[in-house]
Amino acid sequence: MRARPWTAAPYALEHAVALASMLDADPEALHAELSSMPGEDGLTRDGTGAAIGGGTHHVVAVDGDDVGARAAVWRLPDAPAGWFASDFRVRPPETGALDAVVRAQRAWLGAVGATTLRTAVDDGDRALLEGLVEAGFSVEAHVVLGRRELGPENPLSHALRIAPAEDAPEVRAGLHALWGRTLVDNPGHIDPLPSLDSWSAEVFDDPGFRPEWLLEARDGDRLVGATWATAAGDGHAYIEYTCVERDARRRGVARALKAELAARLRAGGVRTVETEWAVENGPIARINRDEGFVVVGGHRRLALSI
Ligand SMILES: CC(C)(COP(=O)(O)OP(=O)(O)OC[C@H]1O[C@@H](n2cnc3c(N)ncnc32)[C@H](O)[C@@H]1OP(=O)(O)O)[C@@H](O)C(=O)NCCC(=O)NCCS
Repeated sequence: MRARPWTAAPYALEHAVALASMLDADPEALHAELSSMPGEDGLTRDGTGAAIGGGTHHVVAVDGDDVGARAAVWRLPDAPAGWFASDFRVRPPETGALDAVVRAQRAWLGAVGATTLRTAVDDGDRALLEGLVEAGFSVEAHVVLGRRELGPENPLSHALRIAPAEDAPEVRAGLHALWGRTLVDNPGHIDPLPSLDSWSAEVFDDPGFRPEWLLEARDGDRLVGATWATAAGDGHAYIEYTCVERDARRRGVARALKAELAARLRAGGVRTVETEWAVENGPIARINRDEGFVVVGGHRRLALSI
């Protein structure tokens, strides 16, 4: 088959219909969404030349009226200097289209002071994974999505004190600090911990937040662990995070927290729970498997050095 002459172009209104068809989206809604994203003028550089600030650069691969791939690249203002995130899509088998948008973004990223470009690829999308690895990305983590049906009660057998976290400033600060000390041990996670205010907004202002599903484990007065789930539609919940202080690990604290959470979810009418973990994360993979989570999806986190 003759290779098609894909060329990369900055996304514009004329591409909306072909891009929407590739993404299976509504052209008007897609164009409105893409036009509302911040442009490139919010990007500057720090003293070392690395990109800081926020901005978006969106490129499509075109051949006549056809669009075969897209690459949306963005930087959020609070990301570490030089880091960019992205969303790539390709219509198989147009690997030439993917190459064109990767090349164009690489050149742009080099020019604006990027150091690392990251993206996530759904486990179902082998063509995209292979294309990006071929283009130089490497796999940093493999995060799987597990689902568990909540069956009959699984009683707690621990003396540890586990209860919903009180909503008080010092409790929020304590949990935020615990997140900071434990997230670094989670190979599924890469972004730095947001400030206390942003973190509090993410946790407590989430529409799915339920006070009785943010549990803490205390050994005497000392906070040693926590687990947190959010509502995800009628009868469904999502476990966002579970963590235990390093010196309190391997004593069943996480298992106890999650068993208590499951009891509370069940009491709240939840029938299925989903959560994600990196396959590289031995302890949580083991706990989730033992609890009966079955892998139903996943994605790989890829990184490209610029
Ligand atoms: C994951 C985490 C919460 C586990 O906490 P914990 O209190 O030590 O967990 P538990 O003691 O209840 O259970 C851990 C189990 O994993 C096992 N385990 C420990 N290290 C392991 C490894 N490298 N590979 C496989 N299993 C392992 C333990 O033996 C234990 O199983 P057991 O009860 O059959 O002995 C804790 O390690 C942590 O905070 N990690 C950093 C944050 C994180 O990654 N959270 C998960 C986000 S998805």
